[in-house]
Amino acid sequence: MSVPLKHGERPGAALPAAPAALRSHVAALLQSCTPGHALPGAFFTDEALYAVEMQHIFGRHWLFLATEAEIPEAGDYRTYQIGPWPVFLLRRDDGSIGGFHNTCRHRGSRILQQDSGVAGVTLMCPYHRWTYAQDGRVIGCGATGEQAAEQHALRSLHVRQLAGLIFVCLADSPPDDFDDMAARMTPYIAPHGLTHAKVAKQVDIIEHGNWKITIENNRECFHCEGHPELLCSLFDFFGEIDEARMDAEERATYRRYLAASAESEALWSRHGLPWRAIEELHGRPTAFRTERLALDGAGESMTPDTRAASKRLLGDLTEARLGTLHFHTQPNAWYHFLADHALTFATLPLERGRTLVRSTWLVHADAEEGRDYDLENLTRVWNATNRQDAAFVAETQRGASSPAYIPGPIGNNEYMVAMFHAWYEERLRAELGL
Ligand code: FES
Ligand SMILES: [Fe+2]
Repeated sequence: MSVPLKHGERPGAALPAAPAALRSHVAALLQSCTPGHALPGAFFTDEALYAVEMQHIFGRHWLFLATEAEIPEAGDYRTYQIGPWPVFLLRRDDGSIGGFHNTCRHRGSRILQQDSGVAGVTLMCPYHRWTYAQDGRVIGCGATGEQAAEQHALRSLHVRQLAGLIFVCLADSPPDDFDDMAARMTPYIAPHGLTHAKVAKQVDIIEHGNWKITIENNRECFHCEGHPELLCSLFDFFGEIDEARMDAEERATYRRYLAASAESEALWSRHGLPWRAIEELHGRPTAFRTERLALDGAGESMTPDTRAASKRLLGDLTEARLGTLHFHTQPNAWYHFLADHALTFATLPLERGRTLVRSTWLVHADAEEGRDYDLENLTRVWNATNRQDAAFVAETQRGASSPAYIPGPIGNNEYMVAMFHAWYEERLRAELGL
């Protein structure tokens, strides 16, 4: 249990109405958008808008931050930076997960200063040695006096777990639709056993682009010709499909996709795995999408040869040929759950034109590198894909920042980009009262 605050406000909590000038600035930017088109360049370059997004998008919504496998043991902690907010997650001695602002209640130093580590039963700020209990209470503040200890506690985050994924919300009153998403998604994700998985590899890439370009890029596969490694396994048929406009090669791939989908749907049903798409990428604060998709080739995994990379399958799964369960959450994450491993991608803005993309490969907790999986084989496809995407994002940031940029139309095969735009506009209007 987190200790309720007695003093001060949380970020994003009980915000005063945005100043009128700022509200009209955002309203004018939204007004400048052409329906069905890409966002104008100002959405990637405007500092005032970025500050509004941090406060009202990242400060107010449920964000995917990590997996339980990152802090498996009591005392394990990880530190994160979400826009302007340093935060940390801690596995407490009772097994529960706490989330706190990593800002000391004395004079504001970061308390935990490493990326990860093991904390004792107490956490100590290295600056003047204020100490905190695992629930955030101050339990010692030296010469500052006992009264300070009673009146101050670390500011906590709201934390929710979804089948091994950890989400946080910085707002005082988080959107109340997280539980609905969790209830509907748990049957899809739980069979992949993330609560009994370990991190095989985690890679951070700093993309030189605004966070929305990173998300837009993820929400379409129109550019997937630029991902030759990914296309070994992924069928890139999204949106309305018009077979009449396909060339012979595309038609052959499409037929293969239809056959693999029919076969896979029967297999998933036999294994009791939900597979039907849920598409709620806008129209709600905690917006999401899922779909289980057949993969090409052997259909087992996102590897160069489309075979499982880990011999030890996740959870209690016994069938390797399960394709990929896609999951997207607004505003900052996407995931692939395969039979042999899972991948999570968290997008965390660092500044207006710089975004951290953290990719995490998870395998069964008992899988052993060298015996059950080869790390290079496990990570090759998405390491290559991430590098390619980082280049797409950087070039888009640079080109779209030109005063000469005129946004072009978004195609049907980019419909999830349009859904992201719809969600973004809905949330800004709701938050700012526009
Ligand atoms: S800033 Fe943490 S103890 Fe002073
Ligand atoms: Fe991509």
